Amino acid sequence: MSILQTIKSRRSVYQFTSAPVKAKWIDQCLEAAIWAPNHKVTEPWRFWVLGSDMQATLAHIYADSRAKKRADPKTDAFNEIYDKAVFKFQAIPKIVLVGQVLNADPVMCKEDYAACSCAIQNFQLAAWELGLGVQWSTGPVIQDERTFNALQIDSNQVELIGALYMGKPACVGESGRKPVEKVTTYLD
Ligand SMILES: Cc1cc2nc3c(=O)[nH]c(=O)nc-3n(C[C@H](O)[C@H](O)[C@H](O)COP(=O)(O)O)c2cc1C
Repeated sequence: MSILQTIKSRRSVYQFTSAPVKAKWIDQCLEAAIWAPNHKVTEPWRFWVLGSDMQATLAHIYADSRAKKRADPKTDAFNEIYDKAVFKFQAIPKIVLVGQVLNADPVMCKEDYAACSCAIQNFQLAAWELGLGVQWSTGPVIQDERTFNALQIDSNQVELIGALYMGKPACVGESGRKPVEKVTTYLD
């Protein structure tokens, strides 16, 4: 695939087969990620590749926050939402968390977020070429202090900016974009 074909054909993927994701594929995606542009070469990104124990821990954090939003604790509805959420999270073949090392300077911080976003896109494109789909999630699990505790990181020093859910796509949806002319002003 040409780079343009890879960019245009890549879609966020929300449903995965149960096929395992090989460690070497993740390393290839991470290798692509770290070559993202980053101002002053701050290399602000950090990655956590979850194993099954950590995924199980985060599944309960995910389920708890999801169920609390939708039902009263200790009700049957809560338990049902909780159990389904644990199952859903556990079914994700592989999860990589992405963090940004926080810089005290707000301009640097903004630029570092941009760099981390470039790294995530590199990661997604490398995954797509390997036949893997990724969903970049910014859901509540990465805001939850229990996640920081589980990973043993300080939320004053690192912000988690994405949970990358990945696996072999079970199905790929469609997405569209406005034509370039609609979002571009050509000047003399
Ligand atoms: C910063 C950022 C945060 C995102 N967070 C979520 C999210 O929390 N949940 C989700 O389903 N998709 C999330 N996405 C994926 C977008 O929804 C997706 O890119 C968009 O729908 C366009 O689809 P495409 O990636 O297939 O082109 C996020 C994307 C970005 C760039």
